[in-house]
Amino acid sequence: MTMRSARIIGTGSHLPERSLTNAELARQLDTTDEWIRSRTGIAERRIAAPGELTSDLAVKAAEQALSQAGITAESLDFILVATTTPDLVFPSTATIVQRKLGAGRFLMPACDIQAVCAGFIYALSLADSLIRSGSARRILVIGAETMSRVVDWQDRSTCILFGDGAGAVVVEGSPEPGQGILSTHLHADGSYEALLRTDGGISHGLLVDPTSGRGLAQMRGNEVFKQAVKALEGLVDETLAANGLDKSQIDWLVPHQANIRIIHSTAKRLGLPMERVVMTVDRHGNTSAASVPLALDEAVRDGRIQPGHLLLLEAFGAGFTWGSALIRW
Ligand code: UT7
Repeated sequence: MTMRSARIIGTGSHLPERSLTNAELARQLDTTDEWIRSRTGIAERRIAAPGELTSDLAVKAAEQALSQAGITAESLDFILVATTTPDLVFPSTATIVQRKLGAGRFLMPACDIQAVCAGFIYALSLADSLIRSGSARRILVIGAETMSRVVDWQDRSTCILFGDGAGAVVVEGSPEPGQGILSTHLHADGSYEALLRTDGGISHGLLVDPTSGRGLAQMRGNEVFKQAVKALEGLVDETLAANGLDKSQIDWLVPHQANIRIIHSTAKRLGLPMERVVMTVDRHGNTSAASVPLALDEAVRDGRIQPGHLLLLEAFGAGFTWGSALIRW
């Protein structure tokens, strides 16, 4: 049967237990709770325990999504994990997740997607294409990160921003057109690498080394901020135009949770009151590829998102990479 659209049939998420508050950070760094809250909207973030890996967070989120969808891992046709902080250089975190879900013997393909904070949207877009092309019927899409392992805890301008966590969705084909994922829009501009990057990597012969500070995240925050606002404004307009929709028809904005001020500006572009924006940045910080599925799961589980609602998901991150997905729930 031809699948004419792809729908999300289950969501899940998981956060590490340990919460790191602004007050704790202010005891270690030259910063204040007031500065962090007013400039970013963040009050606390979760930090993975020693030995707690990206795949551990991913598996817990995936189990919830599978359970909500009422299916088991063996019925999946594909596993995609969006992450910037994989367990290992290889194999992929997706194959580790497959094994931990007990699904290795079912031989479905599994691979990682690396598009930093936009990674979940990239993976969701790929899942949508795989389903509509007939290559897969049911796909597990996860965004999972342990960003705490790649931030420089001496750098007050970046370490206050990030947190750890995972979110997951199960996407399934539907013969009905016009349901579920209505469109996705992806972009990248590699000329901005210098504004947001890690200082090293495998090919440079440098692994993450918190002692020397090499291999850790570096950001020219103010310049990233301006580019993010501009790119997201264009993305919102592009997504609405591609679907012949007016901004007044959007029920929920489910944005990447990098900074409350960036979220405010996107909501303003859409003319959406903040009650129609799913916000987790205050409690999660920026969890990179995990932030959109974490926010989505929260609003699905607490009943804010209801069948028939129109959702706009968007994200912007290093690369730069950015993307959106318009979804009829
Ligand atoms: O998810 C991927 C995409 N990432 C983003 O979208 C992040 C985008 N950028 C941002 O969210 C913001 O630029 C930040 C929150 C990172 C920074 O906010 P800002 O309003 O752009 O501040 P700034 O970088 O212009 O710095 C203003 C001042 C500086 O001091 P001077 O030079 O004015 O004396 C900084 O040194 O704030 C200082 N500062 C801090 N002060 C207290 C920077 N970090 C801190 C801090 N506590 N943690």
